[in-house]
Amino acid sequence: MSNFTRRDLLRSGISSGLALSASSLLARSAWARAEAVLADTALPAILPREKLLFDFDWKFQFGNSVDPAKDLGFGVDQGDFAKTGEFAFAKVKFDDSKWRDLNLPHDWAVELPFVHDHVQMSHGYKPVGRRYPESSIGWYRRTFDIPARDAGRRISIDFDGVFRDVLLWVNGCFMGRNDNGYAPFHFDLTDFLAIGARNCITIRVDASFGDGWFYEGAGIYRHVWLTKTDPVHLDRFESYARTAVSGGTCTVSAATVVRNAGAKPTDAGVTWKILDTAGKTVATAEAVQQSIAPDGSATFTGTAKIANPSLWSVDSPNLYSAIVTVESAGKVVDAEQFSFGVRTAVFDPEKGFSLNDKSMKIQGTCNHQDHAGVGASLPDRLQHFRLAVLKEMGCNAVRTSHNMPTPEWVEACDRMGVLMMCETRQMSSNPEGLAQLASMVKRYRNSPSIILWSVGNEEGQMQTEMAEQGAKVGAQMVRLCHELDPTRPVSAAVNGDNAKGVSEAFDITGFNYNLAFPDEYHKKNPRRAIYGSETSSAIATRGVYSTDPLRNTVNAYDGVVPWGETAEEWWKFYGTREWAAGGFAWTGFDYRGEPTPYGWPSINSQFGIVDMCGFPKDTFYYYKAWWGQGPEKEPVLHLFPHWNWEGREGEPIKIWAYSNLDEIELFVNGASAGSQKVPHLGHVEWNVKYAAGLIEARGSKDGKVVLSDKRETTGSPASIRLTVDPVDARNEINADGEDIAILRVEALDKEGRPVPTAGNVIGFKVSGEGKLIGVGNGDPNCQESDKDPKRSLFNGLAQVIIQSTKEPGEIHIEAVKEGWEGVELTPAKLIIKTRRVELRPQVL
Ligand code: GAL
Repeated sequence: MSNFTRRDLLRSGISSGLALSASSLLARSAWARAEAVLADTALPAILPREKLLFDFDWKFQFGNSVDPAKDLGFGVDQGDFAKTGEFAFAKVKFDDSKWRDLNLPHDWAVELPFVHDHVQMSHGYKPVGRRYPESSIGWYRRTFDIPARDAGRRISIDFDGVFRDVLLWVNGCFMGRNDNGYAPFHFDLTDFLAIGARNCITIRVDASFGDGWFYEGAGIYRHVWLTKTDPVHLDRFESYARTAVSGGTCTVSAATVVRNAGAKPTDAGVTWKILDTAGKTVATAEAVQQSIAPDGSATFTGTAKIANPSLWSVDSPNLYSAIVTVESAGKVVDAEQFSFGVRTAVFDPEKGFSLNDKSMKIQGTCNHQDHAGVGASLPDRLQHFRLAVLKEMGCNAVRTSHNMPTPEWVEACDRMGVLMMCETRQMSSNPEGLAQLASMVKRYRNSPSIILWSVGNEEGQMQTEMAEQGAKVGAQMVRLCHELDPTRPVSAAVNGDNAKGVSEAFDITGFNYNLAFPDEYHKKNPRRAIYGSETSSAIATRGVYSTDPLRNTVNAYDGVVPWGETAEEWWKFYGTREWAAGGFAWTGFDYRGEPTPYGWPSINSQFGIVDMCGFPKDTFYYYKAWWGQGPEKEPVLHLFPHWNWEGREGEPIKIWAYSNLDEIELFVNGASAGSQKVPHLGHVEWNVKYAAGLIEARGSKDGKVVLSDKRETTGSPASIRLTVDPVDARNEINADGEDIAILRVEALDKEGRPVPTAGNVIGFKVSGEGKLIGVGNGDPNCQESDKDPKRSLFNGLAQVIIQSTKEPGEIHIEAVKEGWEGVELTPAKLIIKTRRVELRPQVL
């Protein structure tokens, strides 16, 4: 079913019924483990290559896509591109003193007000696109020194991803363009830089066109790097290590490409050093010397052996790293370091998925890339935070729907032990489509977390009317993946029966929704492994227990859109068939845009198992109960809704519990409301009349009560509580201008109990060595600013993201009541310390 058809259906069919929030604290284990690994893998810069972070101290101004006079005069007359070096706005001396100062990553779309314009629905009602010329072009400028010692080096600028169309100039000279929102790109600036002098980079970013049907942001929303190398250097994304274990020994087959950008032929040799997680050298390899012609390149290969390798797995994400060194004319001219893992990942048509020969189900979620407060421009720490939230419910895999991910999301998966289905944006064998695919595969083929390449999502034409062409396009894309990486299967997320078109070429078959197809397909295609590439599309508004089209809310009792399946339905399907590898639920996090099941004033989707901030909805605990973590599944018992139903005394309230225990007994104000056996992969429910007080669920295993969960009627809000989010749990962060503290804001009643229905507006005063970079509350219908220092609580919760400066010290945050209501709330204060750290190598 196409997305357009679905949008028409949005207001029609939401199934099921009622209620509550659940803010039980998430355990810290996943994060703590990641923290330890992160500390181990912090690497020093390797000279003579310098990879400098180029994020700080940029200038920004809006342009205009139809009026050249408001677009720095760009395009006023015919001659802009007539002569090299004459773009005045791209020279050092151009006056940008009135432009705004900002640091990257930057997403200007999240800063814009919402517009009530149906056409902008996909983009979360942000005014970005051809019909909004004044907010769709952004100009960025940065001046910087190139010291005299850089004479003779190759210098390039590398972008991890910009939304969307880029024109770039250096010192008044046009360098080139890039026309997609997710793939990395670079420009070699060497010939145009002034050595021992000030230089200027100017970038025009045009977000008029989109790549998707979801919120995509606008601007330079991922990191930028300035890379300096010797003329003889390692080529971009060419170094890789493939592993094969036999008889307790791992053979590492390493390869790379060395480029000679110098004017003379040169000899070059390459060596590899393999380090274990502790940084100890465990193996080495050497390639035969070769001569490389000027402007030429050569491929080098080598083999190393690791005895008794520590395998990478979701429980023990052991990473090795390789240092690749190039020597030319007797000296080291370049080196780089990348991490890789030793593991096998097999999709079997009969036995499903196995990692290191151990069978396991893929318990996955699909995710877009934006977050509350910051849109598409996430500080690195947020990637780890988001993954820790998902891990906490037992999610062991993510799909990067529907685009090439940012490197930090992949690194987080490598380090925290989460599998990944890595998806490219454009399904096409045209040059742009193949180029996007090639950069994705080359960039990430060393990442052990990636078990599967996806060449696209729901390409109706390529599956039906244009099936013949689709088969060719698919075959070409699969061939390219196999050539660049013969170790991983290739697939795509297909909404249909997978009978023809692109599907013909795939190694394994993914089904989006449509649970009627896989059984039949399995019988007819006994050699194809099968998984759910996209499932569920269940919907819920966090902490809300009634579906109300006037308020755009969806109750928490596992409701679903007409084309989807509830959490219970899809997991009972994929979780119980031995041949099925598992699947990926749509979605882990709520995301801006595609505001399903309602349109305006909803500005984000309600598909998330957690909301835009990462606060769990009730279904989170369904997954936690049945996905669990580790060999011994943790006992889980989660009761909902909340018990604040003033005015509904005597009315029946639907009560549910998610649990993996044997039996649950419910007590309402001390009296038993009955005991129920928990069905496998199901839930238990009661209907009870409301009376203020306490509901309690007691869960037993083997006849013994082992866990209980309660909901208590609270009083009204009396004070504010401000804490660090328990998933991140750090009161001290790095003073590097990048690290963040993720704060949780709540309202407590007089007795100190969180009020699950609180909606008070809270203001934030931030002083000292940090600044507020975003706020959110997970309400899909909230059109308050993501950037103002205030936010209303949504069902008792809000989130504030604070970023450090580069000066060590303290950040003081005060939360005070802002709303007009008569009630007073005791304010709260929090101090975050920032510690001195060595800054990443960066452009000053
Ligand atoms: C799928 C699509 C997703 C999202 C989802 C909503 O068909 O792949 O991007 O639109 O539907 O249910």
